[in-house]
Amino acid sequence: MSETSDNHELSGHVYDGIQEYDNPTPGWWNWLFFATAVHSLFYFIYFHSGVSGRGVIDQYERANAANLRQQFSEIGELQGTRAEMIKFYQDTKWLDVGKVVYQANCITCHAPDGGGLQGPNLTDDAYKNVKQIEDLAKVVADGANNGAMPAWRTRLHPNEVVLVACYVASLRGTSPAQPKEAEGNVIPPWPTSLEESPEDGQDSSETTTPDVSSETPESSNEGAIENGAAGDGTAEAGAGDGAAEGSTEETTNSEPPLVAPGGGGE
Ligand code: HEC
Repeated sequence: MSETSDNHELSGHVYDGIQEYDNPTPGWWNWLFFATAVHSLFYFIYFHSGVSGRGVIDQYERANAANLRQQFSEIGELQGTRAEMIKFYQDTKWLDVGKVVYQANCITCHAPDGGGLQGPNLTDDAYKNVKQIEDLAKVVADGANNGAMPAWRTRLHPNEVVLVACYVASLRGTSPAQPKEAEGNVIPPWPTSLEESPEDGQDSSETTTPDVSSETPESSNEGAIENGAAGDGTAEAGAGDGAAEGSTEETTNSEPPLVAPGGGGE
């Protein structure tokens, strides 16, 4: 073969008469390579550590929900009536909005899956402040137990209050990873239509639909209660006392109400 006329160094290897230039990858290239390798470690830890809200799917849902929020005009301003609650807790499209509100404001006390931490388990059949589905929206708006459960009326858009309450309704019967033991009284399953229960959202707190309540034992949510009872043995037998202490811990909610969606790109 011909000799190299230019001043390239040869590696000294010869294969079938073919010689090889000695061209090592440049230093900057190697550094780039190592930098991406190191970066991938942090990337992996950040996005795959299971922290809620960081994953691509969560980000997508958030962007989607932000978009939906712009369409609030479509549903007008919700009041949290029984009819609205029954409609929207079964509407997956609007539940996504409720989910975003929940993830941004409620998980510190109720856990990302509703299993309960400082606040009660929201997935079982027992409730302390709720007899009817519309009571969920009232509790979220006005709070409970002297602020142990903060009032969100002034911090969230009225539609967000109702939709997050609907999202909470939809959590019932799910199986959280670490369910807190059930607190309060077992109440009948949520109605799936207005007709299912006679009273139409007026003052119905005294007369809990007798016909619906008779179905309670057959409800598919029994498992959640059993799990709840088997959970970590936080002794919160008395309905009120546990949370009364909690009211001194208001400081945990000083975060802004809603993360501005879309603006959070790292
Ligand atoms: C500072 C902690 C805290 C935060 C944040 C919080 N909650 Fe609560 N929540 C509580 C506590 C404590 C109770 C129980 C109040 C009681 O003892 O009556 C409660 C009760 C509730 C109840 C009634 C449950 C029942 O059994 O009666 C609902 C529904 C609820 N919270 C939803 C929410 C939603 C939705 C959010 C977010 C917008 C939220 N909570 C944020 C602490 C919190």
